[in-house]
Amino acid sequence: MKEKIIEELKKARSKDLTFSSGRILGSMCTRPHPIAVKAYRMFIETNLGDPGLFPGTKEIEDRVIKMIGSMLHAPESMGGRMTSGGTESNLTALWISKKMSGKREVIVSESAHFSFVKASSLMGLKIKVLPSKNYVADAEMLRKAISRDTACVVGIAGTTNLGLIDPIEEMGEICEEKDVFFHVDAAFGGFVIPFLQEMGYTKKKFDFEVNGVSSISVDPHKMGMSVIPSGVLLLRKREWLDVISVESACTHTRKQMSLLGTRPGASAAATYAVMKYLGKEGYMDVVKRCMAATAYAEKKLTEEGFELVVKPETNLIGVKVKDAGKIAEKLSAIGWKVGVDEENGFIRIVFMPHVKKRLIGEFVKDFKSVVS
Ligand SMILES: Cc1ncc(COP(=O)(O)O)c(C=O)c1O
Repeated sequence: MKEKIIEELKKARSKDLTFSSGRILGSMCTRPHPIAVKAYRMFIETNLGDPGLFPGTKEIEDRVIKMIGSMLHAPESMGGRMTSGGTESNLTALWISKKMSGKREVIVSESAHFSFVKASSLMGLKIKVLPSKNYVADAEMLRKAISRDTACVVGIAGTTNLGLIDPIEEMGEICEEKDVFFHVDAAFGGFVIPFLQEMGYTKKKFDFEVNGVSSISVDPHKMGMSVIPSGVLLLRKREWLDVISVESACTHTRKQMSLLGTRPGASAAATYAVMKYLGKEGYMDVVKRCMAATAYAEKKLTEEGFELVVKPETNLIGVKVKDAGKIAEKLSAIGWKVGVDEENGFIRIVFMPHVKKRLIGEFVKDFKSVVS
């Protein structure tokens, strides 16, 4: 019986793609680091929704929050929670800002992730779209956009489609002046930009170093090389979590301050393990290799006459094509899974750690023949 079930599972799994094939070019997830997988297994039965039963696991979550806080220049007053990913972190940030302000309008840039559409639908929030300039938020328009009803402004550090960084410093200054909650969605960029800054690739600031920043989403299950699901929401002040606190009589701590009830402690353990193991040097190395692959692809593609949408700021590029949707389908049929932005007419490629340089030449050749 057991063997039969396992066989059935193997059959289903064999239909899946794997990151180790290297042909997944449109995902922000990657193969988790082996130490994260080991830690995940060790903590498989733990539940952070009931920390009274798992105080050791709760300590690990607190350490993860502290480590990521220190990576993102969070002040002593900071607090946070592990989440299931960028969507939950973004929903929670908006939930907190709505509760704190009693207002319902959220200003997001054009390139914001669709999780904000979900947040708007769930919480009855009114989304006001901030126009973009060269695919990033136009900070000059923000001052005018903020109104008496604004609960929150959202900036993106590592946009989903192009990996670009919004002008967080200018946006932060305006939000501080207008006393509006400013959430930075660094679900993708949170484990990239700090290392790019360290290596001198960028001078842009995006985290709590910027005074007006109230909260940040960052996903260990993307460039952090942890397991799915692993997200983190950080808040400048830990007491802001109190506004979403609910009585949870059936748990041993009797209070919960998170969107989810039962939460996987295994994700906290996995994230802790990979962060401790890789450390700053290890992540710098990962990011350096991803950036080298990005630069190599840029060179190969431009040599073949392709044009990039914009100069890449992180390990993500957009390549202009006609009929982007059709091109993506054709590439998919021959095994290359790319992202696509049909509205702006480009193919999106994310150079995650599993995307090896040696496959890029092969991809560019296939891409060229599909396009011509
Ligand atoms: C900028 C950004 N925010 C949020 C998300 C949502 O993350 P998740 O799919 O982990 O919920 C993504 C996903 O790609 C993203 O790129």
